[in-house]
Amino acid sequence: MGKNVVVIGIQWGDEGKGKIVDILSEHADIVVRFQGGNNAGHTVVVGTEKFILHLIPSGILHPGKTCIIGNGVVIDPEVLLDEIGTLASRGHFRAEDLVISKDAHLIMPYHKRIDIGRERLRGGRKLGTTGRGIGPAYEDKVARCGIRCGDLLSEEDFRLKLRLNLHEKNHYLRTILHEEGFEIHEIYHKYMAYAEKIGRYIKDTSILLNEAIEHNRSILFEGAQGTLLDIDHGTYPYVTSSNTVAGEAAIGSGIGPTRIDTVIGISKAYTTRVGEGPFPTELKGEEAERMREHGGEYGATTGRPRRCGWFDAVAARYSVRINGLQGLVLTKLDVLDDLDEIKICTAYRYKGEIIRDFPTETTVLSSCEPVYETMEGWKEKTSEIKSLDGLPKNARAYIKRLEELLGVEIIIISVGAKRKEAIILKNPFDL
Ligand code: IMP
Repeated sequence: MGKNVVVIGIQWGDEGKGKIVDILSEHADIVVRFQGGNNAGHTVVVGTEKFILHLIPSGILHPGKTCIIGNGVVIDPEVLLDEIGTLASRGHFRAEDLVISKDAHLIMPYHKRIDIGRERLRGGRKLGTTGRGIGPAYEDKVARCGIRCGDLLSEEDFRLKLRLNLHEKNHYLRTILHEEGFEIHEIYHKYMAYAEKIGRYIKDTSILLNEAIEHNRSILFEGAQGTLLDIDHGTYPYVTSSNTVAGEAAIGSGIGPTRIDTVIGISKAYTTRVGEGPFPTELKGEEAERMREHGGEYGATTGRPRRCGWFDAVAARYSVRINGLQGLVLTKLDVLDDLDEIKICTAYRYKGEIIRDFPTETTVLSSCEPVYETMEGWKEKTSEIKSLDGLPKNARAYIKRLEELLGVEIIIISVGAKRKEAIILKNPFDL
């Protein structure tokens, strides 16, 4: 029997999904991206080679796996072609393995300019977006004026939609953002050239996926960003513009929710966040610096230093609930290897009261003080360890405590960047 497994991040993104999806891809026939765009950066280390993928599912690094970019993704064709080119030059691209949904929306040059211009206009209240045009592209989708991949296949439709859009966007860019506008022909020719190159990949991916399910194929749904960046359930407005939670796997790929068998969450053994917004367990100064350096906590997409802090069990418990998690993958345990003490936030103190449910309101969350439980560190290198029993006693105690606090089983523990540096206790395709 084929199994369909959804893998999502349960923090503010950058949980190490790329590596885990890469490991799990081996058990799947198809790997699907279902939301987000090239704001994501999934880092995968294969042997001595490092790959950073922004749009193409990490499954591309496994020959013979079909990689689908679903309708819920927003696609910048320039980035996609760059990624194809880079993978091809390194011998990791097979044209027959890539399929792009005709209904996925396109990121247009004006989306990027609006994203950047608007952040500038927000000044001190900026969101810290990746500047890739993600938000404005999703806005157009909801405003029902977006241009989709399928439109690239009809020059006439594309030109008409572009003209209507530019009429509004140029006005907005010039008068509100004081930016330059665009000429229709420059975008038109550029995108028609893209169409020639990517047209062959554009298909009805919902049909393909549902047929695969009928034929008992196994599918891995690869989330991008994390639950706390979800447009509905995250720390709004400091979120991304798509639904990053497990439920989106169905919507963003065109399968029914009844087709999903298992939902797995990924979390770091501590917490990070990029961009603005409240972060109760954030560390400052030397402690933060140490975590950042040991964890290599710099954005895979923008290179920005990530904010670092202790594991937040209040936030993680919330993500377990919102996603209906059936198992958890804990990543980067090794980053904590040399600490004397490790803290876990088990509750918040808000206006003198203890709260255990995660508040998504920015004003409340930014006034929450973490209540910590302190555990002894293990002061031993873990990256070579292959079994749970082989882990130091204090590391096992840490893992057990997280399981108790979250009410979910930890099924994989990642102890390094390489494929083999993972302790696999259960395979989500067998759950
Ligand atoms: P946007 O997705 O570029 O609009 O950015 C909105 C917020 O989401 C910003 O705080 C970004 O730093 C954050 N964000 C977007 N994508 C990622 C990601 O893949 N990892 C971590 N943070 C992200």
